[in-house]
Amino acid sequence: MAELKFPDGFLWGASTAAYQVEGGIENVDWAQAAREGKVPSAGQACDFYHRFESDFDVAVNLGMNAQRFSIEWARIEPEEGTFDEREVEHYRTVFAALKARRLTPMPNLWHFTLPLWFSKRGGFLHKDAPEVFARYCRFVIERLGNEADLWLTHNEPMVYSGKGYWDGAWPPFFKSPLKHIRVISAVAAAHRAAYTAMKTARPEIQVGIANIVVYVFVDWFWNHRFLRLIAGYQDFIGLNHYHHRKFGITKHEQESALRSDMGWELHPMSLYRCLIALKRYNLPLYVSEHGLADAADIHRPEFIQNAARALHRAIGEGAPVKGYFHWSLLDNYEWTEGFTKRFGLVEVDYATQERRIRKSAYVYKQLCERNALLDPAVNVGDSLFSDTTRSS
Ligand code: BGC
Repeated sequence: MAELKFPDGFLWGASTAAYQVEGGIENVDWAQAAREGKVPSAGQACDFYHRFESDFDVAVNLGMNAQRFSIEWARIEPEEGTFDEREVEHYRTVFAALKARRLTPMPNLWHFTLPLWFSKRGGFLHKDAPEVFARYCRFVIERLGNEADLWLTHNEPMVYSGKGYWDGAWPPFFKSPLKHIRVISAVAAAHRAAYTAMKTARPEIQVGIANIVVYVFVDWFWNHRFLRLIAGYQDFIGLNHYHHRKFGITKHEQESALRSDMGWELHPMSLYRCLIALKRYNLPLYVSEHGLADAADIHRPEFIQNAARALHRAIGEGAPVKGYFHWSLLDNYEWTEGFTKRFGLVEVDYATQERRIRKSAYVYKQLCERNALLDPAVNVGDSLFSDTTRSS
């Protein structure tokens, strides 16, 4: 049986985001939209705010050595310019819990939800938004910057702008091509300001963003535009990857493609292709999210093995991949889908908050513990990458 080995020190972890798991966050635009009946309510979610220690125990027992999570801006700065030191202390205990378990932290400062005061004044489209966002980021770094080396400012700016300003499906529910273009530039400006403020406060930290990369025909616009807007203002790139779309395929191919419970095609080689596409930036790469909704847990085991093959292949071809964070540790609040989609390595019973480890999590555990994939099907693995059809 072949063994695909990973470099020493490779990070294996899982990702979460505050609003999707913590529970009890009411002073953000998404909670307001839920009160208005526009999106499902996140309510207590997974109660991760109180249960993070036992959830990190699960992560460590699954062999992981890293965790990505997010800090909720509205907890730290509930009113404009007013910072809540108790919440800083809360997140300090989160870092301490990770450290005690030797889990390398990758904190993210903003994962889609905006403090109500910030969204009411126009969000990132307000002219002062870059300074205001940078002030928050700098505050966190001054207090907690010694707790982690790898910091993300933003999660998926292209999804945020697309869903909120083009589709009109997410707060602030605009359908405006003009605002869409403007908000992409505004979020990039906010990142640049935050990067400068964070690096001034602590030059030694590494700052990046989690960018979604999709194989689509609008490759430049969707995948690379934002990265160009922040060129020179990132020390690493986080890749979030879920989507593969192939054009020019038959109806039969379309119908027979393997899909997750979200209806997204599961395509074994698209992660590899995205990593190769990001090689040109000459920056360390982390897969900051990659996963699938699969309540029955039938596709996840192979999905994880295929991810490992893709990572290994990309590293072998010179992509500087340093870590992989599966989305997600827990089932969680999936935005407009509410709690109906199950992305977790760990199943959550929302009525009792009971956690149950899914079988696929043990496949991940073996990978994390060995820092290698025992590949029973190395030839099958190879053939996954020999598909020459154009995926776009
Ligand atoms: C987001 C997560 C989301 C996941 C699955 C990513 O785009 O960062 O918040 O839950 O995809 O849809």
